[in-house]
Amino acid sequence: MRVILYTGKGGVGKTTTSAATGIHMAAAGVRTLVVSADSAHSLGDVLDRDLSPEPQSIAPHLDAIELDARIELDRHWGALRDYLIELFRYQGLDEVLAEELALIPGAEELATLVAVDEWARAEKYDAVVVDCGPTDSALRLVTLPEVSDGALRTLLRIQRAMATLVRPLASRVVPAPLPEGRVFREAERMLYETLDRLRARLLDPLTTTRLVLTPERMVIDEARRTYRDLALFEVRCDAVVMNRFLPDAVTEEVFFRDWLEVQNERREEVESLFAPLPVLTAPLQEDEVVGLESLSIHGKALFDGFDPCAILGVSGALRLQASEQGYQLKMPLPGASADEIDVSVVEDELHVRSGDRRRALFLPATLAGAAVRGARLQGNELMIEFNPAPSSKARPR
Ligand SMILES: Nc1ncnc2c1ncn2[C@@H]1O[C@H](COP(=O)(O)OP(=O)(O)O)[C@@H](O)[C@H]1O
Ligand SMILES: [Mg+2]
Repeated sequence: MRVILYTGKGGVGKTTTSAATGIHMAAAGVRTLVVSADSAHSLGDVLDRDLSPEPQSIAPHLDAIELDARIELDRHWGALRDYLIELFRYQGLDEVLAEELALIPGAEELATLVAVDEWARAEKYDAVVVDCGPTDSALRLVTLPEVSDGALRTLLRIQRAMATLVRPLASRVVPAPLPEGRVFREAERMLYETLDRLRARLLDPLTTTRLVLTPERMVIDEARRTYRDLALFEVRCDAVVMNRFLPDAVTEEVFFRDWLEVQNERREEVESLFAPLPVLTAPLQEDEVVGLESLSIHGKALFDGFDPCAILGVSGALRLQASEQGYQLKMPLPGASADEIDVSVVEDELHVRSGDRRRALFLPATLAGAAVRGARLQGNELMIEFNPAPSSKARPR
């Protein structure tokens, strides 16, 4: 199943591009679902239809939905949350506080991602196009399965310990609404299975992100940071969409001639910054791009010669190589600067910090116990060198 995630700075044209992509794919016979995962839904406005959390038919082969994070949350974690609320309440916490405590960090984003994954599994569709909303929330969405794993483990451990403590005492006075240890174990299992499944979906070669930007400095800078942060979490990008590109025809006007020059420079810059990804351009339209017809025209201009459903380009991947001195791990981090990077090994995990994001990777067995000898940036890649693991020294060659 093909999954395409669109993100970018606010107002650059993510929703328009998502809708135009869906229309273009559906017209080619690809059964497509366009999903709005942006809490500020505007997919319905762009398509000029009322949308809901259930798929609405938009055109042949094309459906659309606007996810509601709260509904998804209730559907997927409702039972677990109810247990936690009960538990905290019987510990004498007031209701509001109990409800606050029962909120699992990032649960709304997780529930949104679960819904996307479920639609991606649905046999009804060949492709799912997701309007992820602005960069920050999109990054939270795609990095959550990894980031929340550690936080959840701790939280659930504490909650389970508290339940065990409280249970013997409480069961004497109240008629058994308290969750058994078994319930927690069940909840944990469900949670970890879900996280694994979501991670697999995000790392699937058929899942790619496309960065939408306009020919403006701040927009390009933000897209560049997003590209780097996605790379840290190994989420693939396959294309850059440059929207609101002034058509050549405006060169008649002196005022626009300068604009055009700046914009063409920025286009070249974007091409080199995001290489080897292709940069698709969409012209600035005369009016807002609303309704199926305008979107279809917009999509044709955008994908001129490209198949919207294809994997349009390949961003780098994490690689482990053996060398004389031990092992080298190469991690693409386009645009990272050395003073923003920390690398350390904590038990069997490699921790890489890039700016304010941090990733913990489980080290493969070959590297268990190996120490980091050094790390440096080489072009767009972080190269981490490991000393041979103590155990491998003892092994006969
Ligand atoms: N290429 C374009 N030409 C003209 N108007 C555009 C273009 N792309 C987007 N717009 C308009 O800009 C506004 C914001 O676009 P939208 O797709 O909602 O951005 P985002 O989802 O990134 O916030 C909308 O009114 C849309 O119709
Ligand atoms: Mg939008």
